[in-house]
Amino acid sequence: MEIIIQRDAEAASRLAAGIVARTVREKPHAVLGFATGQTPIGLYGELVRLHREERLDFERITAFNLDEFVGLKPAHPASYHSYMREHLFRHINIDPARINIPDGLSADIPAVCRDYEDRIHSAGGIDIQILGIGTDGHLGFNEPSSSLASRTRIKTLTARTRRDNAEAFGGEDKVPHHVITMGLGTIMACRMCLLLAFGPAKAHAIAQAVEGPIAAMVPASILQMHPRAVILLDEEAAAGLQRSAYYRWVYENKPGWQKI
Ligand code: GLP
Repeated sequence: MEIIIQRDAEAASRLAAGIVARTVREKPHAVLGFATGQTPIGLYGELVRLHREERLDFERITAFNLDEFVGLKPAHPASYHSYMREHLFRHINIDPARINIPDGLSADIPAVCRDYEDRIHSAGGIDIQILGIGTDGHLGFNEPSSSLASRTRIKTLTARTRRDNAEAFGGEDKVPHHVITMGLGTIMACRMCLLLAFGPAKAHAIAQAVEGPIAAMVPASILQMHPRAVILLDEEAAAGLQRSAYYRWVYENKPGWQKI
């Protein structure tokens, strides 16, 4: 894992956007995996700016989102379809036919999940998967106890995750119990994982995921097995790390050719 600690979320988001932008410029047909939540909003804002001001072209990219709630219409304001439209897709020139978000409304969820895996495979696999982390260490909606080899499937949210999502729904009781999420095995098959975490609420989950043992109880810890996982943190999210001085030194003293 490469652990990069930045001064604040803005600097980390700019760095993340630079990595995504370089991939899109080098590979116009890149396949990008997107995440939702508060964390990547700054990154998406920066991608929109690069599109408007520096003509970053998204026309030929393919997008796969990590997850979606079961039972929400795409137009529901708390759906991840709405989130992606509002924060990114409506501001850039992505081809709507190349946008993939799990269909939480289908009557045949196992078929949706199989089809999602097939579509990722047919697209040639995901080049960069953007990730946030739950306060309980989840990735996508792979809650603690998720199989570390899991593929896209239905999951049941924990009480804590439903609480964390209550605001978007106007109350915990309105948060769906079920979701469709890429599995940890699906995420691990991506060529590069870019995990962002900001703020003190993420410090414990990050410390466990980065420096703790690999465990299904901390789903993000599986990234320790990923050949190319970049963990981008602000100072607050990095506060629980034992070896932060080492990570900072490594990053600051990398040879230019090795910098991401
Ligand atoms: C949800 C999403 C995750 C996201 C997490 C953290 O659970 N399914 O993909 O990483 O929220 O959200 P936030 O960035 O708002 O803390």
